[in-house]
Amino acid sequence: MKGMRTLYLVAGARPNFMKIAPLARALRANGASLGFKIVHTGQHYDRELNEVFFDELNIPPPDVFLAAGSGSHAQQTAKIMVGFEEFCQARRPDCVLVVGDVNSTLACSIVAKKLCIPVAHVEAGLRSGDMSMPEEVNRIVTDAVSDFLFVTEPSGVQNILNEGKPAARIHHVGHVMVDNLLYQRDKLAVADTLVFESSRLKERLGAYGVVTLHRPSNVDARDSLERIGTMLRNVAQRIPLVFPLHPRTRRNLYKFGIPLGDRVVLTSPLPYMDFLNLWKDAKFVLTDSGGLQEETTTLGVPCITVRENTERPITVEQGTNVVAGTDPDKVRSEVFKILDGRGKPGQRPDLWDGKASERIVAILARELA
Ligand code: UD1
Repeated sequence: MKGMRTLYLVAGARPNFMKIAPLARALRANGASLGFKIVHTGQHYDRELNEVFFDELNIPPPDVFLAAGSGSHAQQTAKIMVGFEEFCQARRPDCVLVVGDVNSTLACSIVAKKLCIPVAHVEAGLRSGDMSMPEEVNRIVTDAVSDFLFVTEPSGVQNILNEGKPAARIHHVGHVMVDNLLYQRDKLAVADTLVFESSRLKERLGAYGVVTLHRPSNVDARDSLERIGTMLRNVAQRIPLVFPLHPRTRRNLYKFGIPLGDRVVLTSPLPYMDFLNLWKDAKFVLTDSGGLQEETTTLGVPCITVRENTERPITVEQGTNVVAGTDPDKVRSEVFKILDGRGKPGQRPDLWDGKASERIVAILARELA
């Protein structure tokens, strides 16, 4: 027995914060053998993509902030690597835990591995097969250097076995993001929802769909964003849409001068609870997000994914997700199916039960002891 071990939880961008929140809770509950510190890389820095999550998800303040900020992929990744390496050399952790597939995940896993510090990857094994997605590169490299691979769905286990990882390193534990979602949903049930911007919108609109789109392949080029514009205007003729805008999408809609019409209500990025309050009661969600495909499946809300592929096939095989591609007519017909009561039913996948973080902490406490 080597005494208290210290785990560094790395988070950098919006989709990371909801994944470290339940891990921090489970680590606190575990107590004696595993301590933890939070490393914030600073990949996201705007209050609305960052601080609001720390506040309302009750994540302890970061022990270190690397202030990486934006830049090209190489600039951003390199800046995180340099900062994280200095930090790891000064205060050597016993294990570095990274979540998801953003540039911070990639950067910190490589740094740790080269310092011979064990790496745990939460949400390992997901593959879209689309190497033009920066996240796909991040996933493959992170898994290649990870010692503990915590997987959310069976396809992930198979993918990393196919890449030659030993079965003993792969743990199918369920999904920490689902842990967080179920926890926050229970809090929402007793919260004062009148304070939310989304409550006012819900009252005004009655029935509505929710949209989130920010993938470079959808929003960075004029052609693809114009196609999205056509898609949203078409759908909105039948039902109003609420579209919280990621800064990348907002900037490009403005740059290319693409109108969405007054039946598409644009908002700033919403805090977690405000957004959950909105989408849980939507008729459907139209998205290119990875996490939202899983969250909608968890709560049984119909989801139409505006991409050609998904790295989360269980949401299609068992859940409410339909991968529709980016053709406006196809998306409209999927929306109409749902509104006409012909949407596809779904069920919650195995182990998406709110206990994934506990399983992960139990495994790490045992293996690092
Ligand atoms: C990143 C992740 C993506 C994730 C998304 C969620 C990578 C490769 N991509 O994409 O997987 O789905 O986060 O949001 O890691 N910006 C701000 N304020 C901020 C941060 C960014 O205005 O706090 C703007 C900047 O103009 C920046 C742009 O958004 O250049 C893109 O930010 P970046 O972190 O590079 O990637 P995301 O598109 O957010």
